[in-house]
Amino acid sequence: MRKIHTESAMGDGMRNIVELVRQHNSDTALNHTAGASTSYSSLHPEPTNNPLYEDHVRSSIDECSLELDHEPTLSKRSLIEEKVPEVSRVRWGSRLMFILSAMGAAVGLGNIWRFPYLVYTHGGGVFLLPYVGALALFGLPLLLLEFSLGQQTQKAAMQALCAVHPRAGGVGFASALGAYFMSIYYSVLISWTWLFLFRSFEDPLPWKGSISDAEAFFYREMLGSCFPASSCTLGTSGKTSLQFGPTMANALNWFMTFVCVSRGAKSIGPASLVLMPMPFAMLGILFLRALALEGAGTGIGFYLTPDFSALADPHLWVNALSQIFFSLSLAVGAMIAYGSYNTQESDVVRSALVVGCCNSACSIFAGFVVFAVIGHLAFEEGKAVADVATGGTGLAFVVFPAALALLPASQVFSVIFFLTLLALGLGSAAALVESFKAVLFEMYPELAQRKYLTSAALCFVGWLIGLCMTTSDGRFFLDIFDHFIAQYVLVPIGLLEVVLVIRYYGVDRMANEILVHTEKAAPGVWAHLVKYVIPPGVGVLLVYNVVDEANSAYGGYVWWGILCGWVMVCCIAASLVYFVFFPAKSSSEAAPGLVNESPPQSPCDPLDGTSASPPVEG
Ligand code: PHE
Repeated sequence: MRKIHTESAMGDGMRNIVELVRQHNSDTALNHTAGASTSYSSLHPEPTNNPLYEDHVRSSIDECSLELDHEPTLSKRSLIEEKVPEVSRVRWGSRLMFILSAMGAAVGLGNIWRFPYLVYTHGGGVFLLPYVGALALFGLPLLLLEFSLGQQTQKAAMQALCAVHPRAGGVGFASALGAYFMSIYYSVLISWTWLFLFRSFEDPLPWKGSISDAEAFFYREMLGSCFPASSCTLGTSGKTSLQFGPTMANALNWFMTFVCVSRGAKSIGPASLVLMPMPFAMLGILFLRALALEGAGTGIGFYLTPDFSALADPHLWVNALSQIFFSLSLAVGAMIAYGSYNTQESDVVRSALVVGCCNSACSIFAGFVVFAVIGHLAFEEGKAVADVATGGTGLAFVVFPAALALLPASQVFSVIFFLTLLALGLGSAAALVESFKAVLFEMYPELAQRKYLTSAALCFVGWLIGLCMTTSDGRFFLDIFDHFIAQYVLVPIGLLEVVLVIRYYGVDRMANEILVHTEKAAPGVWAHLVKYVIPPGVGVLLVYNVVDEANSAYGGYVWWGILCGWVMVCCIAASLVYFVFFPAKSSSEAAPGLVNESPPQSPCDPLDGTSASPPVEG
C-alpha cells in the first residue's frame, strides 16, 4: 500500500477517522452490495480535522456495503516505526465479489432494453459484428484501463483523474454530472417497469394478444402517447399533456432512489446480490418457452444473419460503440471506483475479461429471446420479422410483455420478471445518483452535513427534469436524452480519459504496474489498442457523428427537441471546462466558519505529490 500522507497532514482528524474505521471494522461485518449502489468517490477519506468531513466519511463507510480490509488500516508499523499513516480503504471481500459487483454495475436495463432495440433498428444480426468488434477493440481495453487506474492510484474517479493530472478533475465532475442526467431517463424507464408490474396482477394480462395489442397497451394506454407508434413523432402528436401514471410512478421511483441514496446502499445492495442471477434465470425460461413457438427459428435467423451492406452505415458503428460504453458503465466513474477497492495485487486483467465478456453474453442472450418472440409474432401476423414491430426505445417493453403473456401462469412470471427488472434498474439508478452526490460531497464537504437535504434535492430536481419524459411526448425526450448522453457524453469522456492516461500517466507505465503488482501481464496488444486504436477510432467516429448530426437532425426530431439534447451536453461540457480552470474552492473558503478545519482543498488535493496545490496542514 502506498504511503499517501505525511504525519503533518494527519492531525487528530485522521486519527479519528482511523478510529471510526477500526470501530466500524469490529462492529460491522458489511458485505458487498450487488455493486449497484456504492458511494463511489466518497469512500476515500482524506485526512482532515473537519468534523463534517469525518461525518461524511463515516456515513460513506456505512453506506458502502463493502467488507473492510483489516490490512490497509493504519498499521502499527506505520504508526510506530515510520510515523506515516496509511489511509484505510474499503475493500472487496474477495475477487469474486469484485467481479460480481462490477457485473452488477454493468448488467442492467441496457442489456435487456437498449441492446435488442438497437439490433432491431439496424436490421438485425449485422449489429452484432460492430458490437463484438467494439467490445474487443474499445470496450475491454477501456474497462481494463478504468479498473487498473482505480487499482493503481487507489482512488475513485475524480481523484484518480487528478492523480493523472491536477487539472483533470473536471473530467471526473463531468462524468458524474453525466451519470446524474443518465439517472433521470433511466428512472423514467424504471417507472414504466413499475406500471407493468402493477398491471401484472390482472387476469388476463391487459396486453395479451397480438403484438399490436401489446403496442397499443404500451404506447396508448400506459404512456398516453400517439398510436400507431410509427405514425407520429415529437411535436406532431397534437397537444402534449402530463400523464398521471408515469409521473406518479416516476415519483415513487425517485422516492425509492432517495431512500437508497440517503440511507445508503445497505437497503438495496444485498437484495440486488440475491436478485442478480434472476434476470439470467428469467431469460433462460423465456428463451426455452420462446423456442417452442412457431416462427421462433425465423426470428433467430434474422438475429444471426448479417446483412453486410448495412456495415457501410456509420451510424451502426457509432451506436455499437456507444452501446458498449453504456453497457459496461464506462466513463461515469463507476468502474474506476470499483477498481480502487481492490488491492493493487488483484488480477485485474482477468477480471476485466470476465466482466466484459459476461456482460455482452447477457445482452446477446437477451437478443435471442427477443428475436425468437418477434419471430413468433411475425408468424402469427403473416409479416416479415423486420416489419412486425415498431423499432426504437419501446421495443423491449412491447416484446417482453408479449412473450410473458404467452407463458402459462403468465401473471406469476410477469411479476417476477418486472421485479427483476426493477431490482436491476433501481440499483443502477441509485448508483448513478450516488456517483454525482459523492462528487458533490467531495468538493463541498458542508453538503455532507445535510446529506438528507442534498439527496432529497437531487432526487426532486431529477423528478422535475424528468417531467418532460412523463408527458405524452415523453418517450421522444427519453430517446433524445439517451442518444445525446451515450454518444456525446460517455464517448467523449471515455476518449478524454484515454488521452489523459496516454499523455500524463503512461500506458506502458500502467502495463508495467499491472505486471509488477499482479504478476500477470496485460495482453501485449492492450497497450497498442489504447495508444493507437482507441484515440483515432473513437475520435473519427465522434467527428463523423457531430458532422452528421449537423446535417440531419437525429431521429428526424424537431429543432427544439434536438436543442434540449445539446443544452444538456453543453451543461456537462461547461462544467468540465469550468473545473479545469477553476478547481473547486476549499470549503474553508466556501463556507465561513470552517476556517481551521481542513477538508480537502479541492478534488485535486495533493495525495501523492502529483497535485499542484500545497499540502493540507492538519
Ligand atoms: N450499464 C448499465 C446498463 O446497461 C447502465 C449504468 C451505467 C449503470 C453506469 C450504472 C452506471 O443498464
